[in-house]
Amino acid sequence: MREKVTIPYLLDKRARGEPITMLTCYDYPMALLQEKAQIDIILVGDSVGMTVYGYPSTLPVTMDMMIGHAQAVRRGAPGAFLIGDMPYLSYQVSVEEAVRNAGRFMREAACDGVKLEGGRAFAPVVRALTAAGIPVMGHLGLTPQSLAMLGGFRAQGRDAAAAARVVEDAAVLEEAGAFAILLEAVPPEVGREVTRRAGIPIISIGAGPHCDGQLLIVHDMLGFFEAFTPRFVKKYADLNGLILEAFRAYLEDVRQGRFPGPEHCYPMKQGELEKLHELLAASPSPQKEEKRK
Ligand code: KIV
Repeated sequence: MREKVTIPYLLDKRARGEPITMLTCYDYPMALLQEKAQIDIILVGDSVGMTVYGYPSTLPVTMDMMIGHAQAVRRGAPGAFLIGDMPYLSYQVSVEEAVRNAGRFMREAACDGVKLEGGRAFAPVVRALTAAGIPVMGHLGLTPQSLAMLGGFRAQGRDAAAAARVVEDAAVLEEAGAFAILLEAVPPEVGREVTRRAGIPIISIGAGPHCDGQLLIVHDMLGFFEAFTPRFVKKYADLNGLILEAFRAYLEDVRQGRFPGPEHCYPMKQGELEKLHELLAASPSPQKEEKRK
């Protein structure tokens, strides 16, 4: 088994200038593969609402849903640094609720930390969670839980004032105790400026190549989510195509009588078939009984 990924491990990687790798994950079989590939950080993202449950946004996702997914991922990936994504309304209502909900990720799913969306307004939450011993990854730029405020899935920080706000928010979150910050869908210049000023790992999802690490949503990079593809996604596979091909081949095999073949059938034990025929000959079938009447 590999060395467990911890915050000091991530800080060392950053200090050495080695990129930190991160993917989302929602289930056990995918977690097994990510562990095998030795991904540094796994995010059990509330994007599960869109990629797995088919909702049009992440807003319907609840803590109970997230805990179930985080537990499954932890079972498959014991070595990765596991982050539970705080879903909508799990940390916005009060600091107390935020601590209780973040604590559930740690206690019930053995997460290593949590992620929450938002800038300076959430500094008190970050401070309280950190004080409770819960590592927090901030999330700035495009924050999907604020979709209604942002007017859709749009890149952020594209003008100077908005970019400056992202840079300032990152400094505020770091000061409040965040151990890392995720930057989503901002120009690479903003990613570079935030990373240059920060003393903690800055992870990019659509924030360009200058950050300390990169994140992609697993269903996007595997070609397993068709609703839309953000500009920042690189597809490394076409799972949709592969799976559809497999389904069609199965349907055709069944229709043509090619499946199941002898290799998919359980043989009777030696000599038992003859005995079965004898037994059946002795006990009249219901059809024979019917004919006799
Ligand atoms: O839920 C998630 O997967 C995320 C990413 C979009 C960054 O928060």
